[in-house]
Parts: sequence; structure tokens; C-alpha cells
Amino acid sequence: MTTLVALAGSLRQGSFNQMLLKAALEAAPKDVKVEAASIKGIPLYDGDIELGGIPEAVKTLKEQIAAADGVLLVTPEYNNSMPGAFKNAIDWCTRPPADVPRVWRGKAVALMGATPGVGGTRFAQTAWLPVLRVLGTRLFTGRMIYVASAGNAFDAQGRLTDETVKGLLPKFMQEFAEFAGKK
Ligand code: FNR
Repeated sequence: MTTLVALAGSLRQGSFNQMLLKAALEAAPKDVKVEAASIKGIPLYDGDIELGGIPEAVKTLKEQIAAADGVLLVTPEYNNSMPGAFKNAIDWCTRPPADVPRVWRGKAVALMGATPGVGGTRFAQTAWLPVLRVLGTRLFTGRMIYVASAGNAFDAQGRLTDETVKGLLPKFMQEFAEFAGKK
């Protein structure tokens, strides 16, 4: 069975990207195992911490990624790039470098994101590309999801209401799962 792990790059309650992640999980095909991972509890990268051992929260996330056929990054956009906290979490998951081939090389990765702004996280998704390239991942390029004006795309309970995105998500998840399953 194809397994996917989905990760949103926002820590806050009421995060639009967490809402989008939830909608993506619900839209995934039933024969695919999708689990949500978290960047919560991951410390700021510090080489001195690393000398004392990889933190438990990092080990957990890293092994979730290593075990999955595909990784879905649901990225917010800060100052036309990805949030530092999200990049920090992924940076930790590339330590030690000797583990990069096992955890990342050839890994199917897909991007999507939500913002109250008009750009739909286009810059943030683009900012991930050199990171995904250096890690040797396989980028899913079959479809793109840029959720703009996110305040109008979800209801007060955090459920996705935007009809266009609702129509796109099952296709995105189906095709990403197929892509991830073909190693
Ligand atoms: C933002 N935000 C933002 N939005 C955007 O579309 N382009 C941008 O460049 C920025 N820049 C930016 C910088 C900083 C420091 C913050 C805190 C925010 C707004 C951002 O998209 C918004 O806060 C989202 O709600 C963040 O995602 P979550 O937390 O809702 O998932």
C-alpha cells in the first residue's frame, strides 16, 4: 500500500495550512495510507544540540518521512519564501548528512499552500524547489494548488468551502499517490 506523510509548516491554532492539510487527507484515495506529521517541538537547529544527539521530535519526523513513499509539504508563505520554522524542521531532517540518501533520495514530494494573500503561496512553493533538488527528491509536478484569499476558502470550523480547490484536491491526491507509488 502506498503511504504518504503530510506536513504543514505552521504551528498556530487556526492555521489555514493545517486546514488545507486536513482537507487533503480527507480527499486522499481510500487505498492510500496518509498520516499527518508535525513540526511541533522541533528546536531551532544548533550544531551543539546535534553533538548531543538528534532530538526526539526530529527523529520521529525523520523516520515518518523515511518510511513514506511520498511527502506532502503544505507551506505557508512568509516574505515571499517559506517560513523559517518549516525550513528549520526540514533542515533537521537532513541531519546527519549520511542519512540523506535513506530519508530523501528519490522521495516523491508534492507542494501546496494557503494564504490570505492573493498569490496563493506561489513564491513559497518556488522557494522549496532548490531544497528539494539538493536532497535528490522526485517532485510531483502533475498539478498545482495555490489557495489564495484563504479567509474565504474555509468556513468557521476550518472546513474547505472553495469549490475549485475541493474539485482539485482528490485529483491531486490520487495522482500524487500514483506518482509516489511508482518508485
Ligand atoms: C506573512 N504572510 C504572507 N502571505 C503571503 O501571501 N505572502 C507573504 O510574503 C507573506 N509574508 C508574511 C510574513 C510573515 C512574517 C507573516 C507572519 C505572515 C501572511 C501569511 O500568509 C498568513 O499569516 C497565513 O495565515 C500563514 O499561514 P497559516 O498560519 O494560516 O497556515
